[in-house]
Amino acid sequence: IWNGVPQAPPDPILGVSEAFKADKDGSKMNLGVGAYRTEEGKPLVLNSVRAAERQMVADMSLNKEYLGIGGNPNFCKLSRELILGADCAAVREGRVSTVQSLSGTGALRIAAEFLGTFYKGAAVYLPNPTWGNHKKIFPNGGVAVKSYRYYNPATRGLDFQGLCEDLCAAPAGSIILLHACAHNPTGVDPTHEQWAEILKVVKAKQLLPLFDSAYQGFASGDLDRDAQAVRMFVNAGLEVIICQSYAKNMGLYGERIGALSFVVADAGVAKKVYSQMQQVIRPMYSNPPMHGAAIVERILSNKENYEAWKLEVKGMADRIISMRTALHSALQKLGTPGNWDHILNQIGMFTFTGLNSAQVTNMTKKHHVYMTQDGRISMAGVTAAKAQYLAAAIDDSVRN
Ligand code: LMR
Repeated sequence: IWNGVPQAPPDPILGVSEAFKADKDGSKMNLGVGAYRTEEGKPLVLNSVRAAERQMVADMSLNKEYLGIGGNPNFCKLSRELILGADCAAVREGRVSTVQSLSGTGALRIAAEFLGTFYKGAAVYLPNPTWGNHKKIFPNGGVAVKSYRYYNPATRGLDFQGLCEDLCAAPAGSIILLHACAHNPTGVDPTHEQWAEILKVVKAKQLLPLFDSAYQGFASGDLDRDAQAVRMFVNAGLEVIICQSYAKNMGLYGERIGALSFVVADAGVAKKVYSQMQQVIRPMYSNPPMHGAAIVERILSNKENYEAWKLEVKGMADRIISMRTALHSALQKLGTPGNWDHILNQIGMFTFTGLNSAQVTNMTKKHHVYMTQDGRISMAGVTAAKAQYLAAAIDDSVRN
């Protein structure tokens, strides 16, 4: 029956991890997927997560019953407060509907299905470039995809003029996907002033902002600072959609835990929106798994766990920043042709190196450095011990 099914290509990001696993070379590095590694190059389970899990094991009142369709209600409340601030007017007024999701991807997928049903005809504008999965999630939910200019390869920075022109030209009502902070894959974020300008355009043109917040805390090490763009839009009175992930900032990659919030005009609308989000979820997976939500709940609601977590997030962000310095200075020492200051200037987990596809192939085939074909490397996968090796591989790839 299935002879006619064609072989699908490997996933551009997760496929890199598969290729890495198959490589037997001792010096190999996986800088493909955005996953944090310790200074020893090992995955990290945060102490705050371990503490929360210990508390869960000891809590005999916990059971394994189904969660509601929208997930753990306390987790949802804590999640919207984390991104918007507990003192946010929209939160206080009950204007935010939140459901638990299967990490950021799941939040995007529920949003897409909801928009495909209740916001028919509007396209979503994605930054160019963006996280590859965005381009697949929205059409699958029935939302057409368009793009707006974002990255300028010549400056390795933001094409702010292009961005504003494209948002101005989008039809009223269009959905605009914005990376809340630490843009993936470029590591290039608007400044505070640029965000204020983007807000003006979004407001004037009556666009619907959808924030993908996968890196709160990872950009600056400060949870509130990394939420500033989202808060700016919500506090300006806009209706906003927010997709949150705890994969990176709590290291809960495999727990698949995130949240989707709709900030809407009033509490009555919020109730109806929530009811329809449940309608989207029920036929997809009935209700979400409980373990990851329980961990997040115990971290965000317990002062001691929360303070410990904040320090751990900062620790991860700081180590990534120090790896930027290490790689940059190693390239300087080698006299690698080109300007590599963008390694220092870009924000968050990734550096968009500027290496072209042939150079990336050389990095992988000759040096066993695994990265995505667009030239993105996960700085979180770099260690002090391997920065020199990585710099030498980049140097060789650039020169040949
Ligand atoms: C990434 O961009 O590497 C991460 O968001 C992981 C993923 O699911 O692609």
